Amino acid sequence: MHSEYNYKPYCTKTRHHGFCRALLHPCLALLCRYIGALGVRVICDNIPGLVNKQRQLCQQHPDLMQSVGEGAGEWIRECQHQFRHHRWNCSTLDRDHSVFGRIMLRSSREAAFVYAISSAGVVYAITRACSQGELKICNCDPHKRGRARDDRGNFDWGGCSDHVNFGIKFAKAFVDAREKTVRDARALMNLHNNRCGRMAVKRFMKLECKCHGISGSCELRTCWLAMSDFRKTGDYLRKKYNTAIEVTMNQDGTGFAVPKKALRKVTKSDLVYVESSPDYCLMDKVAGSLGTAGRICNKSSHGPDGCEIMCCGRGYDTMRVWRITQCECKFRWCCAVECKDCEEVADVHSCKAPKHANWRDHT
Ligand SMILES: *[C@@H]1O[C@H](CO)[C@@H](O)[C@H](O)[C@H]1NC(C)=O
Ligand SMILES: *[C@@H]1O[C@H](CO)[C@@H](O)[C@H](O)[C@H]1NC(C)=O
Repeated sequence: MHSEYNYKPYCTKTRHHGFCRALLHPCLALLCRYIGALGVRVICDNIPGLVNKQRQLCQQHPDLMQSVGEGAGEWIRECQHQFRHHRWNCSTLDRDHSVFGRIMLRSSREAAFVYAISSAGVVYAITRACSQGELKICNCDPHKRGRARDDRGNFDWGGCSDHVNFGIKFAKAFVDAREKTVRDARALMNLHNNRCGRMAVKRFMKLECKCHGISGSCELRTCWLAMSDFRKTGDYLRKKYNTAIEVTMNQDGTGFAVPKKALRKVTKSDLVYVESSPDYCLMDKVAGSLGTAGRICNKSSHGPDGCEIMCCGRGYDTMRVWRITQCECKFRWCCAVECKDCEEVADVHSCKAPKHANWRDHT
C-alpha cells in the first residue's frame, strides 16, 4: 500500500459513534449523528436537499456516504487555501450552510470552482476509501493485473492501484443526480464543471514502482497507479478558475454558446459560468458575499491580498502586535535545525468596515 496521503479525518471521533458535521456537496449539509444508533434510513432522509436518486444511493451505500462526508472537510480546506489571498475566500462553505446555499445560487465563476473541486473531492475520498479497504463495494483497481509496459520497459502490476474509475463513476452518479432533475443553463453549467473536477483527479494519477533484482538493479519492477496529493488537483482547478469562460445556453438548450467576445472555444477541461461575480467588497447575502471588513491585508503587496484591493479602497486599520518567531536558525550536524525564539514587533493591517450607507443587506 502506498501511504503518502495526508489523511486527516473530518470526523474526529470514531466512525460510527462520532458526532460530526460534514458537508456533502454544495447545498447539502449532513448531520451524521450516531449513524449506528439512528440507522441509515433516518440519516439519509434527514440530509436536506437530496434529490430522490441521491437518497436511494445514500440508503444503498451508507459507507460510501460516510467517506463523502469526511472528504468534504478536505476539499473545503483546499478551496480556502486556494483563495486565502482573495476577497472571496471560500469561508462561507464551513461557516453557515444557509449562506453557502445562497452563494451557490449565483451561477458565478466561484460557483464553477466550488462544483468542480467538490466533485473532485468526492472522487478522491471514495477512491482512497476503496484502496484502504473501508468499503464493501470496491477495492484496489482489479484491472491492474499482470504485465504492462511503460517508457522504461516492462513491469508487473502489484500492490494496490487506486481505482479512480470507480470513484469517478460513483461521483458522477451521486453528484450529478441533482442536475438531472432540471434542464436549464445552470444545470448544464454544473454538469460541465462537475465533470471537469472529476477528470482533474484522474489527470494526476502517477505510476509508482518498486525495483527488484540484484542489489537494486531494477531488472524487475512492480508498479501501481496512485493518486497524487489533492493539492495538485486544487492548483490545477485554481488555474482553470482563472481562465474560466462565460457562456450562455444555445437555443435548443442542449449546449453552450460562447459570446462573440470570447477568444476561444469551450473544451472539456474549461470551467464555465453563466453570471458575472459580485465584487465581494460588501456584505451581500443574496449575492453570496461576506464582504471584506476585518480581513487582514498586506500593505506591501500589489496583488489581490494588498490593502488597496482587498479593502476596496475603504482603507485599513493598523494594529501593532508582538509575536514570537523563530530566528537565527542554524543547521547542526547531523541533522537538525536549531533556532532561537525572538520577539518581533509587526504591524497587522485589516480592512475598515464600510460606512452604514453602503451596507447592502437584502435580508
Ligand atoms: C474569510 O473572509 C471572512 C470575511 O470576509 C472572514 O470572516 C474569515 O475569517 C476569512 N476566512 C479565512 C480562512 O481567512
Ligand atoms: C506581503 O507582500 C509582499 C510583496 O508581495 C511579500 O513579499 C510578503 O511576503 C507579504 N507578506 C505576508 C505576511 O504575506
